[in-house]
Amino acid sequence: MSLRSRGEVRTRSDLESLSQAVAEDLARIAASAISVHGWFSLALSGGETPQVLFGLLAREYHTRIPWARAEIFWVDERYVPHHDRRSNYGMANDAWLAGSPVPRENIHPIPTDLPNAEEAARQYERVLRAHFLNSWPQFDLMLLGLGSDGHTASLFPRSPALAEETRWAVAAEAPTEPSHRITLTLPVINHAAHVHFLVAGSRKAEALKSALSGESDPLDCPASAVRPTDGELVWWVDAEAAKLLP
Ligand code: 6PG
Repeated sequence: MSLRSRGEVRTRSDLESLSQAVAEDLARIAASAISVHGWFSLALSGGETPQVLFGLLAREYHTRIPWARAEIFWVDERYVPHHDRRSNYGMANDAWLAGSPVPRENIHPIPTDLPNAEEAARQYERVLRAHFLNSWPQFDLMLLGLGSDGHTASLFPRSPALAEETRWAVAAEAPTEPSHRITLTLPVINHAAHVHFLVAGSRKAEALKSALSGESDPLDCPASAVRPTDGELVWWVDAEAAKLLP
């Protein structure tokens, strides 16, 4: 399978220039989605890598995107309170959304105040089904990260969640704290119109090479299972992460 069939790799020298390029492409995708179907659905991942991008969306892109037409969701969440510094919602809200023109009713955090992650996943799926009118959700843009172990979203190696084919969101376990997670499933991720990975730093180089090799077992490298059915797959990577690529 050619490298291209596993997505297009776009390399930038460092995280700053990478984030600038992603922000510009996000603006293009948003404008196109809004002109085609009136709104722009964006699913965010957490972790450190997107923090620079969130800062750009908060400042340089504060008015450049019609945020009133945006609907913000999460790819995954750690099962901690939203005010916890490890919360993916909390990180995005603090870095960007709290001061953004996105209407609060258009921001759909994964709930973490239910009795457990399983109930939270089912509640989040109800929110998704209400929004996407119960047909397979096609997010306009899905922003994914890559763990050094090859995980993406909260789909970790050997996770039972990797085999889920009907539910849209499930509870999952991470090998690191916070271990209880909620994550979108692979069918939902692969149904997106645009799936963009943001990968930076030399510690991701092995996982990136594995994900792009076309020879990895998805059980060992879940990111390699991200192959949009009809959508665009782009790997935004900095020079450090790309250093093992041919
Ligand atoms: C999470 C993320 C996760 C993340 C990767 C990379 O909840 O942690 O959604 O999938 O994207 O772990 O994280 P870094 O950007 O911090 O390396």
